[in-house]
Amino acid sequence: MEHFYLSLLLVFVSFVSLSLFFLFYKHRSNFTGPNLPPGKTGYPMIGESLEFLSSGWKGHPEKFIFDRMTKFSSEVFKTSLLGQPAAVFCGPTCNKFLFSNENKLVTAWWPESVNKVFPSSTQSSSNEESKKMRKMLPNFLKPEALQRYIGIMDNIAERHFASGWDNQKEVIVFPLAKRYTFWLACRLFISVEDPNHIATFADPFQALASGIISIPIDLPGTPFNRAIKASNFIRKELVKIIKQRKIDLAEGKASPTQDILSHMLLTCDENGQYMAELDIADKILGLLIGGHDTASAACTFIVKYLAEIPDVYEGVYNEQMEIAKSKAAGEMLNWDDIQKMRYSWNVACEVMRLAPPLQGGFREALTDFAFNGFSIPKGWKLYWSANSTHKNPDYFPEPQKFDPSRFEGRGPAPYTYVPFGGGPRMCPGKEYARLEILVFMHHLVKRFKWDKLIPDEKIVVDPMPIPAKGLPVRLFPHKA
Ligand code: HEM
Repeated sequence: MEHFYLSLLLVFVSFVSLSLFFLFYKHRSNFTGPNLPPGKTGYPMIGESLEFLSSGWKGHPEKFIFDRMTKFSSEVFKTSLLGQPAAVFCGPTCNKFLFSNENKLVTAWWPESVNKVFPSSTQSSSNEESKKMRKMLPNFLKPEALQRYIGIMDNIAERHFASGWDNQKEVIVFPLAKRYTFWLACRLFISVEDPNHIATFADPFQALASGIISIPIDLPGTPFNRAIKASNFIRKELVKIIKQRKIDLAEGKASPTQDILSHMLLTCDENGQYMAELDIADKILGLLIGGHDTASAACTFIVKYLAEIPDVYEGVYNEQMEIAKSKAAGEMLNWDDIQKMRYSWNVACEVMRLAPPLQGGFREALTDFAFNGFSIPKGWKLYWSANSTHKNPDYFPEPQKFDPSRFEGRGPAPYTYVPFGGGPRMCPGKEYARLEILVFMHHLVKRFKWDKLIPDEKIVVDPMPIPAKGLPVRLFPHKA
């Protein structure tokens, strides 16, 4: 009997040792080859993911990048992230290289979990889907198309502030900012306005947003599992809305220009093909995800910085009040008003320099190639980082200083200011985001001044930057 247990123990120990050996061997073999960039590769499986993520959790996502830029190379260093061999590209030259080699040397890459949460209706990978969406989106989101939505944004902002902020002594900004951007998206993408209908989406949507980038364990109760279920639920709800819209369009009860859904239903590709219902549902879901937490993070940080820097608040207030005073009672904001909000937009840009809603993005090497004398193997994941330039004194002197004048005149040098990315994959929602942020600023400063209730509230970046307690503020309404 004793021998039996001893043999069992031996088999177990050998199995564990062999597995560990293969893990280490596989990990190391990912990083053998001449001329790879310098850097550290961390442990098998997790690589340096924990260091990468935890610098964000501690509120300093740039630390991971700058430590390695100082130690290894200011332009490109190797690492291992999310189970993948990777190289981080830093600085404007690297940004330019990645952004201008889209679909030539590199292509977009998402962690496997994203593909599982978004099973495309056509069974192509989400990468293929996004190429198709890329072609169509500019039509729906270009400034000319968006101009007609400014009045609607103004109206929703008015109702949002009336229901969530007015008559409150204190509010928590981040959940309110999310409610604002979600309400706008529901109205402008799919014409859903009824608060009860919006509420049926809000919870599943939250589950989806927080489970997309999570550990991909699909067991009951895990964030990943909840995200998959939420994604299926929302897509089904969207398909119901799409079917009804088709009927309404045919019967003349809906207008072809009332929202992005109508545009999508009535637009065909270069082969005369209209999009399938599930395709449209996926695309709308992509837009909701792409635009939701990003823009609400930007709005939240605008509130934070305006509370902290009174003369910047004064500048925004004066600009917005001049516009407000030029309007007749009940007259909506329009495109000309938005063009006058130059200082406010410079302030928003400076906010997104210091707190970029997305820290960067991944690409995958389509082939072996050389960059700056280093070899990048096919299949490696490449990461561009907004912070590598935004917080670098070489491109933004005194990078921690809040200075909206950086955006006056010709503004920052090319490829140094990249909150929306760059090249063919640059955020298609940039102009939409500009409008919703400016309309938000208009309504906010027109009504209030405010103080932060937690003076040195911690910032957590996971993966968006968020004040740890959601930014509670005390409101001081202007005297009428
Ligand atoms: C302040 C707000 C926003 C910021 C900072 C932001 C930033 C970004 C960035 C950095 C990317 C990735 C680019 C890359 O991988 O190189 C991106 C992609 C994307 N964004 Fe935005 N975004 C914002 C708002 C929006 C809005 C409002 C929408 C929708 C109306 C939107 C839709 C998308 C979509 C669909 C993609 C994926 C495009 C693709 O893969 O080709 N974003 N965004």
